[in-house]
Amino acid sequence: MPLQWSDEYLLDVAEIDAQHQELLLRINGLIDALEQHHGREVIAPIVAFLEEHIITHFNLEEGLMLVKAYPELASHQQEHRQLIRDFAEFKRIYLAQGASKLVNMKIQKVVNWLLDHLDRTDRKLGTFIMLNK
Ligand SMILES: [Fe+2]
Repeated sequence: MPLQWSDEYLLDVAEIDAQHQELLLRINGLIDALEQHHGREVIAPIVAFLEEHIITHFNLEEGLMLVKAYPELASHQQEHRQLIRDFAEFKRIYLAQGASKLVNMKIQKVVNWLLDHLDRTDRKLGTFIMLNK
C-alpha cells in the first residue's frame, strides 16, 4: 500500500511538516522502485537518502522535545529507535537477497510504523508545541 500524504498529518510546525512530506515522498519512491524491479543502482541511493533523512528528522523532533521539556520525550524517542531498527533490518535483508517478499514485508512494516507514528505520536507532539509556543 503506498503512502498517501494527507494534510491531516500537518502539525503546523513548518520544518517538521516539510520533513514529514519528504519522508513519505521518498518512501513512496522506494516502494515504486521495488515494485518496478529496479536494480541496486536505483534503490541504494534512495535507501542512503532515507537513512540520513530519518536521522536528521528525528534529531529535529527530539531537539525540540528537549528544548520544550516535553514530558513524553522518552517514549517518543523509543518509537524513533524502533523505526531505525526496522529500516536497518529492511536494508540488511535487501542487501543480502535483493527484492523479495520478505523485503516487501519489511518495508510495509516501515510504512505501518510511519502512519501510526504520524497519526498518534507526532500529532500529540504537535499539539504540545502549539500549546507551548
Ligand atoms: Fe516523531
